[in-house]
Amino acid sequence: MDIQKELESKIKVITDKYTGDKTGGYITGDGPIPCDILFVGEAPGKNEVEEKKPFVGMAGKNFEKYLNSIGLSREKIRITNTCFFRPIKLKENPSGRVTISNRPPKTLEVDLFREVLDEEIKFVNPKVIITLGNVPLKRLTNFKSIGECHGKLYFNEDIKRSIFPMYHPSSLTYNRSDEFHATYEQDWNSLKEALKNI
Ligand code: URA
Repeated sequence: MDIQKELESKIKVITDKYTGDKTGGYITGDGPIPCDILFVGEAPGKNEVEEKKPFVGMAGKNFEKYLNSIGLSREKIRITNTCFFRPIKLKENPSGRVTISNRPPKTLEVDLFREVLDEEIKFVNPKVIITLGNVPLKRLTNFKSIGECHGKLYFNEDIKRSIFPMYHPSSLTYNRSDEFHATYEQDWNSLKEALKNI
């Protein structure tokens, strides 16, 4: 079986067996295996599950814009998630209508996919892993928060990999300040520089 199919069948089994909080579908990583550059996000949302591909919604559009701005394209990178199913919550409004929204994955949900993500990293064998936001950061490093480490290259002795932490692209939607947008852009430029030396 090819690696992509193998990863997918493991993700499906884990998702089908999970009886905890509500979830709404699952996806796999996308892009070549092996690959020098691996981005790791948080968990898929509605658009991702519908299109069966990571980062195709709003956050994905921002991501791709910045990726292209440093001379990279999606075909040249692999992109995956820390939690492979879509964590959802249901809310009933006063008229009785139920709406579905995303929620952050719980630690135990991230833990369900430890082996799968470790296996994906092993097969992708990237020269650098770029973590997007706090969820993959905490899963793959000992940093406590993205604010303390973003925009620099580190070597993680535990997993013996170079890690470049970045803010999650959806933070651009939550934080509209010019200062934050400038910092975010600067981090992409720093990534471009870091990639020249890997
Ligand atoms: N946000 C993520 O963290 N991952 C996706 O795949 C999409 C949005």
